Amino acid sequence: MADFRALKITNDNDGVRRSVETLPIESLPDHDVLIRVKYSSLNYKDCLSATGNKGVTRTFPHVPGIDAAGEVVESRDGAWKAGDQVIVTGYDLGMNTWGGFGEYIRVPANWIVACPEGLSLLDAMTLGTAGLTAGLSVQKLLASGVKPEDGAIAVSGATGGVGCIAVALLAKLGFDVSAISGKPDAEAMLTELGAKAILDRSALEPSPKPMLKELWGGAIDTVGGEALNTLIKSTKAGGSVTACGMVAGLGFEASVFPFILRGVNLLGVDSVEIPLKAKAEIWQLFANEWSLSLPESAIQIKSLDELSDVIDAMLSGHNTGRVVVKHADA
Ligand SMILES: NC(=O)c1ccc[n+]([C@@H]2O[C@H](COP(=O)([O-])OP(=O)(O)OC[C@H]3O[C@@H](n4cnc5c(N)ncnc54)[C@H](OP(=O)(O)O)[C@@H]3O)[C@@H](O)[C@H]2O)c1
Repeated sequence: MADFRALKITNDNDGVRRSVETLPIESLPDHDVLIRVKYSSLNYKDCLSATGNKGVTRTFPHVPGIDAAGEVVESRDGAWKAGDQVIVTGYDLGMNTWGGFGEYIRVPANWIVACPEGLSLLDAMTLGTAGLTAGLSVQKLLASGVKPEDGAIAVSGATGGVGCIAVALLAKLGFDVSAISGKPDAEAMLTELGAKAILDRSALEPSPKPMLKELWGGAIDTVGGEALNTLIKSTKAGGSVTACGMVAGLGFEASVFPFILRGVNLLGVDSVEIPLKAKAEIWQLFANEWSLSLPESAIQIKSLDELSDVIDAMLSGHNTGRVVVKHADA
């Protein structure tokens, strides 16, 4: 079988290095399904892996890429056959199992979702783990009872991968969306995505007050830290706030008041280890009633050779929107 190209991360006594290399297919792990990856996408966790973060990737050399969409080449599991169009996100992909920044992956059969009719492989990776996470966040908000008439929904980190898809999806579902962003020059893109109001990130500065003015019917927080705390404190009675990210910090000092005096719900979101069925449900929604047409301004399509620069931009918080990785034969 052919060799394949991949973005390889080396982490040894000489430091952490990224290089695009041609690797033998035998270097992939011995799992049941071999997939020719057509598209991947860049998520924050890939950047951590690409900088040698041992909390994400313990063993190097490594090929990151927590997302992959492509075609099954061979399968030892009856659930899949050559030619099937499939999506793999999360579990151990791109963490300690070589991931979508290689032209091939070999994964367990139970990590794979069929790419639903109505969604192309490119569409799937335009959404990627970021879209799955945004979708799960919206699903949790809706399940908690939040409705458009409850008031505007705040989305933090709005120009990021999760944030921009959350803005577009909420707008499609009829919510007024207030996009909160640290990028003043992203106003046009956020408006195109469907944001009704755009607030500077300083709106989420920490406050010593245990509760703040009730502003939001709900919130989707993608940044964590004190920004999440400010969103909780300014959510209306009975509203809900989802938490999925940590780019702004891991912790915050909170009081119980928003929870016990306003009944605010804090909803955690994990898109990585959840059952495959829960992932498949979100992909089906995106293929049907949640179908999104994201503006071009929110999508960058990059080759493997262009990826390293975008990784640096994402790490410094300067990246905007979704980055799709297009492999050579896509
Ligand atoms: N729980 C899960 O299963 C799951 C799944 C996917 C992602 N995540 C996490 O969700 C977060 C967002 O992921 P992503 O892929 O959307 O990342 P991303 O594309 O890098 O977006 C993050 C956005 O957060 C904002 N930001 C960056 N640095 C910040 C800072 N220091 N303070 C406040 N805001 C900052 C920026 O948006 P603005 O400039 O617009 O403010 C940035 O674009 C990450 O922490 C990621 O690890 C979790």
